[in-house]
Amino acid sequence: MPKANLVLIGFMGTGKTRIGKICARELGFAFRDSDTLIERKIGRRVSDIFRERGETAFRAIEREMIAELAQGTEQVISTGGGVALSDANVEVLRETGTVLWLSASPEVLLSRVGGKNAYKRPLLASAPDPLQKIREMLIEREPYYRDAADFNVLSENRRPGDIAEQIIRRFLES
Ligand code: S3P
Repeated sequence: MPKANLVLIGFMGTGKTRIGKICARELGFAFRDSDTLIERKIGRRVSDIFRERGETAFRAIEREMIAELAQGTEQVISTGGGVALSDANVEVLRETGTVLWLSASPEVLLSRVGGKNAYKRPLLASAPDPLQKIREMLIEREPYYRDAADFNVLSENRRPGDIAEQIIRRFLES
């Protein structure tokens, strides 16, 4: 029996939102994106919250949002790239959700979050060498993603619909 929610974790640019929306539609679940809900609740963009209040304050807001989301059912929850780094977040999400880690290579991630999209990601926006920064962050973060996840799916070289189909199959089997 699958759990009540499907939770997508992984680095910025792995397609959590895009693929999560397809999964939600196919499963007949609600789609919830933690960053979007934070922006709605605070009335500021994530990048503004980082600039005005700092990362520590953002992480506290994020923990509250995750705890709230984990109480719901029949949701696909797309999380910000830093969510799985907190034990508290992982613990509550795993209580009600099957956790899927979406991954991709640093080069593919840069092509998705670099250039004109970089300003949206405060942790990458100021890096002089974004590819190097992505590599360093992945080395630090991958152990957390791996530990938090029930399974891993590679998010590159295939159409989002095909990736979503694979995820749904694994979720329904779990
Ligand atoms: C972050 C990822 C972002 C957003 C914030 C911090 C991170 O979400 O939560 O900028 O620490 O990796 P996305 O993964 O949706 O880009």
